[in-house]
Amino acid sequence: MEVRTLDAAMGAEITGIDLRALSDDTFEKIRDAFLTHQVIAIRDQVLSPADQLAFSRRFGALEDQLNAHYTVPDFPEVLVLSNDVKDGKPVGLIDGGDFWHSDSSHRPFPSMATILYAVKNPNEGGDTEFANMHAAYEALPAAMKTRIATLKGIHAVSKLKNKRVTVSPRRPDGKDFYERQKSLPDQIWPLVRTHPATGRKTLYVSPRFTIGIEGMGEDEADTILDALFAHQIRPEFVYRHRWRDRDLVMWDNRSVIHQAAGGYVYPDTRTMYRTVVAGDRPF
Ligand SMILES: [Fe+2]
Repeated sequence: MEVRTLDAAMGAEITGIDLRALSDDTFEKIRDAFLTHQVIAIRDQVLSPADQLAFSRRFGALEDQLNAHYTVPDFPEVLVLSNDVKDGKPVGLIDGGDFWHSDSSHRPFPSMATILYAVKNPNEGGDTEFANMHAAYEALPAAMKTRIATLKGIHAVSKLKNKRVTVSPRRPDGKDFYERQKSLPDQIWPLVRTHPATGRKTLYVSPRFTIGIEGMGEDEADTILDALFAHQIRPEFVYRHRWRDRDLVMWDNRSVIHQAAGGYVYPDTRTMYRTVVAGDRPF
């Protein structure tokens, strides 16, 4: 197994392994690489949904998928992300990953890691961008670090509660889906969280899910949040992944935000399988 750094911001690629036949020893090396590099791209994997599930489960319990009708038949924990169409119907979730976010920060137990397997890449576009929230936190001005040290962000899943995002017009059921989600409770998490495995501090906000600051008026909260949102995606914190066929990419939602860059148009199709490892309550 070889591990090579991908970018100055973060990220590593791993070659020379087959995830279908993984010793405990090699698995520990992958876990180490994941914690060190925050985003890992494991190249040249030939995986069925069952293989992806088995690998994902080694990291812990998996999340159920909110978009249940877009999961792989008989695999409710494997979500299909796709712009492909069969018999006039979408085969997967089409607007997954738009706007910068950390997966499941709106849940009572936000995600530890997300695992995406490239089933089919488009001919053009389809990159995923990742931003390093350890580096972003460390680079904040001292006054901002002090200002936000004890503040808590409000995280909401429904796009209809968030003035900074829009519902994709490409998604036929989008408005109804996000309308139903409005009743789900918001979650309150520290703006600065401590990584439970490494002890490092990380900036835990995102424009997709963080809609306010607990106990603070909207104008004051917006000033802080808009400054953090602009800061956290500065180019020096961002690694842009250009997918290769048979890539399996895994990232740490506790220390990374990400977004889908788009840039592909049907009939150029892109299909990914997604599994999500559950995590701890942020502190
Ligand atoms: Fe995501």
